[in-house]
Amino acid sequence: MILRASLLHAVGEGPLEARLEGWSDGGLFIESGRIADVGPFAEVRARHPEAPLRRLEGGLLLPGFVDAHVHFPQTGVIGALGLDLLDWLERVTLPAEARFADEAYARREAQTFLRALVRSGTTRALVFGSHFAPAQAALFEEAAALGFPLTSGLATGDRNLRPELHTTPERAYAENRALIERYHGQGGLRYAVTPRFALAASEALLEVSGALLREHPDLHLQTHLNENPREIEAVARLFPAAHDYLDVYDRFGLLGPRAVFAHDVHPNPRELERLAASAAWVAHCPSSNAFLGSGLFPMRAHLEAGVRFALGSDVGAGTRFSLLGEAMDAYKTQRLRADGVNLPAAALLWLATRAGAAALGQPGEAGGLEPDRSADLVWLRPPPGSTLEAVLAQADGPDRALGAAFALAREDAVAAVWIRGRLVYQRGMLQAE
Ligand code: GUN
Ligand code: ZN
Repeated sequence: MILRASLLHAVGEGPLEARLEGWSDGGLFIESGRIADVGPFAEVRARHPEAPLRRLEGGLLLPGFVDAHVHFPQTGVIGALGLDLLDWLERVTLPAEARFADEAYARREAQTFLRALVRSGTTRALVFGSHFAPAQAALFEEAAALGFPLTSGLATGDRNLRPELHTTPERAYAENRALIERYHGQGGLRYAVTPRFALAASEALLEVSGALLREHPDLHLQTHLNENPREIEAVARLFPAAHDYLDVYDRFGLLGPRAVFAHDVHPNPRELERLAASAAWVAHCPSSNAFLGSGLFPMRAHLEAGVRFALGSDVGAGTRFSLLGEAMDAYKTQRLRADGVNLPAAALLWLATRAGAAALGQPGEAGGLEPDRSADLVWLRPPPGSTLEAVLAQADGPDRALGAAFALAREDAVAAVWIRGRLVYQRGMLQAE
């Protein structure tokens, strides 16, 4: 199949080296779920004269977005105002997550969650799981049914949460092992060891997390790091022998190129150096950091230290699933810092696509429109009469068009989404629309 559309992606090795590449009348030839050819429509058409054609009139066809940090059991807590991290967890979020003990409820929530990702244009994600193994299994199964390339894992904690959410190191090991055997590597599913954060983990639980990674070197790891000053002080009290927050994880062998640490709003220079040396990733979650008042992400310090970072929506502390909105919040966060990085549209698109794919260990598989990549695509086409439609009509060039999309496009601007070449969402396909 050939898609004829206005095509755009971000190419380059990092956010600041990124540049936009695209064709206003482009052609994208998809074969067996992969991009097989791309370029000016007339040339692609000439090379594949027999292929069926679908014309996407208006708007922009982009690589699907890749969310490097989002919580499965938190859709229902989006917008719980007035609290900082630790109070928000205790009063709102952990009680909501306790409901996932009910497997039928968890399965319905898994469907809602995956649908919310897809209709926001997100085609791959690293997802923080539930504390309940049956709920986590339901998420993997619903992702497989949808054809969504999910990377996720059972969230674990054995202190400082709520009793119903606590596990034991032995149980965490057994449940992780069972889920890894059932789901890791099945279709597009991948497993991430997911200790919730140092504050909720005993040394024995962190030891189990490290053991799982040693036993299965191709697993991912995700957790939280340096989000909030009160949290950081509490971690220092719990682990007095550790140099700092990152060192708690480092001592148990959790750092590496497949590790993603969410937030890192308050790192020290030693931590930045260790993150860079271990080639670990940070998931920058700007709407969450503003919503909980956690702070302004020190992007320049990460860039100067050579620490790689991608974007995370961090729903439900994050305020929507759309990585377009998240990219705009990343931009605004930098405007608010004295040492802020002035991010052009290419950098924002790079962060919302290519960075996430690399953070998920899939740098050649997703995040761009080059041949051989998975055909993961989002067609942004504003609804008729919308403000975005009016602004796009006046945009003189791709930078302005993308800037308008970051400012204005949310899930209602997503007209269609393909994952691995399959149309998984089209505006109007759900009855409620
Ligand atoms: N730290 C530990 N758990 C969470 C969570 O659910 N959300 C955020 N933003 N930070 C956390
Ligand atoms: Zn989080």
